[in-house]
Amino acid sequence: MSTNGMILLLSGPNLDLLGERDPAVYGHETLENHVDAARAAAESLGFELEHAQSNHEGDLIEAIHAARGRTVAIVINAGALTHTSWSIHDALDAYDGVVIELHLSNPAAREPFRHTSTIASVADGCIAGFKGLGYPLAIEAVARIIAARS
Ligand code: DQA
Repeated sequence: MSTNGMILLLSGPNLDLLGERDPAVYGHETLENHVDAARAAAESLGFELEHAQSNHEGDLIEAIHAARGRTVAIVINAGALTHTSWSIHDALDAYDGVVIELHLSNPAAREPFRHTSTIASVADGCIAGFKGLGYPLAIEAVARIIAARS
């Protein structure tokens, strides 16, 4: 089957607790619900989607390395590593596909420590604050960016 390519959806620490974790901020849906929504959006736009979640920074870096030359885009919700990880910044900087930073909440409207993103400067754009809707929006952004480039 020929597709427009593979999108890697990458989920960082504590996102495996979605559904139980602070639903007023993150919503009631589970990570599996969001992955399903992202995959449905990807397939409707002619892409494939693979997902990985880890609570460990090194695993996320390995996943970004493994996506090089094999995927057309990374959609990443790095959780709190967004605010601290220059290693994830450097890994994404060495990736040549589209990068979308994704958050369920709007970090800019929350505590000051969430106002810094190490990912922002190596991302094509950021989708934040739309809870689960952000997942299909991020996939649509990937499709539109790639279409505009070709
Ligand atoms: C988050 C926002 C981060 O500040 C937080 O640490 C998370 C989730 C979000 O999706 O809103 O774990 O990335």
